[in-house]
Amino acid sequence: MTQATLSPGRRVVVRALGETPMGSLEANTALEPMAAPEPASLAPEDVIIAIKSAHVGWVDLLMMSGQYQHALAPPYTPGMEYAGVVAWKGPGVGDALAVGDEVLIDPFVAGARSLGAYQKWGGLASYGVAPARAVLRVPAGLSLDEAACLLGSYETAYHCLVTRGRLTAEDTVLVLGASGATGLAAVQVAKVVGATVIATGRSPDKLAIVRQEGADHVLATTGEGGGARPFRDEVKSLTGGRGVSVVYDAVGGETSLESLRCVAFGARYLVVGWASTPFVARGRGERGAPNANQLPTNLIMMKGLDVLGCPTAIATVNAPSLRAPRLAQVLAWAASGAIKPRVSRVFALDDYQEAMRARWQSDLVGGCVLRP
Ligand SMILES: NC(=O)c1ccc[n+]([C@@H]2O[C@H](COP(=O)([O-])OP(=O)(O)OC[C@H]3O[C@@H](n4cnc5c(N)ncnc54)[C@H](OP(=O)(O)O)[C@@H]3O)[C@@H](O)[C@H]2O)c1
Repeated sequence: MTQATLSPGRRVVVRALGETPMGSLEANTALEPMAAPEPASLAPEDVIIAIKSAHVGWVDLLMMSGQYQHALAPPYTPGMEYAGVVAWKGPGVGDALAVGDEVLIDPFVAGARSLGAYQKWGGLASYGVAPARAVLRVPAGLSLDEAACLLGSYETAYHCLVTRGRLTAEDTVLVLGASGATGLAAVQVAKVVGATVIATGRSPDKLAIVRQEGADHVLATTGEGGGARPFRDEVKSLTGGRGVSVVYDAVGGETSLESLRCVAFGARYLVVGWASTPFVARGRGERGAPNANQLPTNLIMMKGLDVLGCPTAIATVNAPSLRAPRLAQVLAWAASGAIKPRVSRVFALDDYQEAMRARWQSDLVGGCVLRP
């Protein structure tokens, strides 16, 4: 296929880093025309993907303020994960891939969270380019929307629960922020492992969906009026007075503190993220950690906790051998139907701002995609 047969497209562009993700969204982003990638400028092993679905992730938002540990120099196109159709393949790409194949892209190799030459091909666009080694078959039974929501969240859940948390069927895990993209993936992964899952969140309506997705028990963390409420007694009651053996903490703040009162002696405490206290760093890419999170050492010490930091991407850069078995397991679970991303909302590319606001305001349960 030649350049002439690929129509021009559009892409979201972040022109400058803002103080906050929402500030950046309003002031610094735009939907711009995009020329189709020019095959003559690509490597023989490259593949052009006509993007059909791109995940809208929390980290995509944090990156727009430069507060995330991985920052791109503007102007750039956000979008860490996407799926689509092969629109062109270079002469060095073997017969395993054909024009028209449905594929998802390895976000460690291409897209906005990757390191290296292909990070400029962010997913919130009509086209992406990736080397053939980063072009994966969509697991059987998954739609392109579901495929776009797979790797980031489920590899995170795997890294945190399985690699770091050593989760087994004997464990009871408290998943904080279970309605989130990584939280819902953690609920499903924990159930595949056979653990008992107690899931928390602020919204009873969203928790009802989390329960349908496999959580054994759900607990609201907010009471009447929307303020935080204690949930230790309920967790203790659900665990025969012992407390949970593992906490998956993607929320931080007051919810973290309360969860530290819900643990059994010697529990593993998995630090996944801090959705409730996102502004630990300075905006506009100045970084640092002027508002660093704090955990109470007295509770950690008296409970004999193992506190485990779980940065999936950074851990994989430090120990690349973590990747292959994790990726293989996530793809195998997806193909067997053991896990299945929940696509909560679908937006047109024109509505990218609405989609990003929905993610930031937690107006979702699980995945959220744009269809370029
Ligand atoms: N360790 C890693 O490798 C890794 C990978 C990806 C993401 N993360 C981090 O994990 C965190 C969650 O990411 P995500 O993609 O799952 O985000 P997400 O889809 O937005 O989910 C976060 C969940 O946290 C809850 N939440 C949000 N704001 C809150 C607040 N102010 N107070 C209490 N709860 C709040 C919401 O649940 P309710 O509305 O139901 O309460 C929301 O569904 C982020 O900090 C992200 O940076 C870490």
